Amino acid sequence: MKIILSPSLLSCDFLHIHKDLLELNKKNIKYLHLDVMDGHFVNNISFGIPVISAISKIKEDLNFKLDTHLMISNPRKYLQNFIDAGSDMLSVHVEADDDVSECLKYIKSKNVEAGVVINPETEASKVFPYLKSCDFVLIMSVHPGFGGQKFITDVYDKIEKIYNKSCEEGINNIKICVDGGVNLENAYEVLKKGANYLVAGSSVFKGNISDNIDAFYDIISKYEGDNK
Ligand code: DX5
Ligand code: ZN
Repeated sequence: MKIILSPSLLSCDFLHIHKDLLELNKKNIKYLHLDVMDGHFVNNISFGIPVISAISKIKEDLNFKLDTHLMISNPRKYLQNFIDAGSDMLSVHVEADDDVSECLKYIKSKNVEAGVVINPETEASKVFPYLKSCDFVLIMSVHPGFGGQKFITDVYDKIEKIYNKSCEEGINNIKICVDGGVNLENAYEVLKKGANYLVAGSSVFKGNISDNIDAFYDIISKYEGDNK
């Protein structure tokens, strides 16, 4: 599977979202990670449906797929709203207070990629039952709620466990996404453990976006070269 870099919009310049999106498009970015927080499931409030709908209006022109990460209580109740807003990928936490299987089934029935998210302290085995019924697993490598945190290195093991389990089950088209604290120092190792989708917020938007993306692409090319 081709390795994907998905910038997390949480770290963009909110006064100039459009300008930042154009910059991502110039660098051939195809996926945007959108962190939705409700101040209840996590201790922070970010943005929601109106912002995603607005971005969705230009997503085809800019060739973006919208990857919406729901850090909200009762996600089931809002799935259709986030699908209507233009999400192409939609994920719910295993820790959420809803029936995860039912959420995945619903998302898929609407032709949207369905994902399951797992927090750093949750055992890898908690996502195993969903591997066959989801399109992607989003492995949190920070405690959800804020951008700019430090990568929790214990999560390397979990990436490997989830990757190995999906191989064991003969699933080879699943996106294994890692989210939180991913940067130029740890990206290679994250890929080596089995991830094929890197979410990166501050390490893309802090400083020069174009240079940061080039540096990520260099690491991805090196990894691909080393693992031909
Ligand atoms: C954390 C979010 C992440 C975050 C990533 O709750 O899910 O997507 O924005 O940002 P960085 O890369 O800065 O950790
Ligand atoms: Zn996220």
